[in-house]
Amino acid sequence: AVQRTFVMIKPDGVKRGLIGEIIARFERKGLKIKALKMKKLTREEAEKLYDIHKGKPFFEELINFVTSAPVVGMVLEGDEAVSVVRLMIGPTDGRKAPPGTIRGDFALSIGENVIHASDSPERAEYEIKVFFKDDEIIDW
Ligand code: CMP
Repeated sequence: AVQRTFVMIKPDGVKRGLIGEIIARFERKGLKIKALKMKKLTREEAEKLYDIHKGKPFFEELINFVTSAPVVGMVLEGDEAVSVVRLMIGPTDGRKAPPGTIRGDFALSIGENVIHASDSPERAEYEIKVFFKDDEIIDW
């Protein structure tokens, strides 16, 4: 079924100049970009986006990291987009992510792992709402 998912290039990906490379992979795969925006997350936005990790030992570090420099968020649409994008980005730990995945090719850390993607359609809708205003999502 056609799904939407939320993807965010994290500060390390932006600082390392990987925005184009990453977007190109999703475009070539055939995913449709329905929204795209660079912004610097506020603490409040970051805590909302990562609310499920509140209380975990890495939470503070994660919030500091994702608010340290701009991020690039996007809404991608396509058949089974949630699982397809998760496969393309690879597992959280860049040291264990297989080559060919975005983290496998560009990350060597568990925290600074270049990119985030929603893990379910419900989570995608929640995260899209945190990052985008309704009128920033283009119907095409
Ligand atoms: P992400 O897929 O965005 O979801 C939660 C993020 O928390 C994860 O990627 C990592 O950036 C970060 N994270 C997860 N586990 C750890 C950890 N053990 N130490 C530091 N950061 C982590």
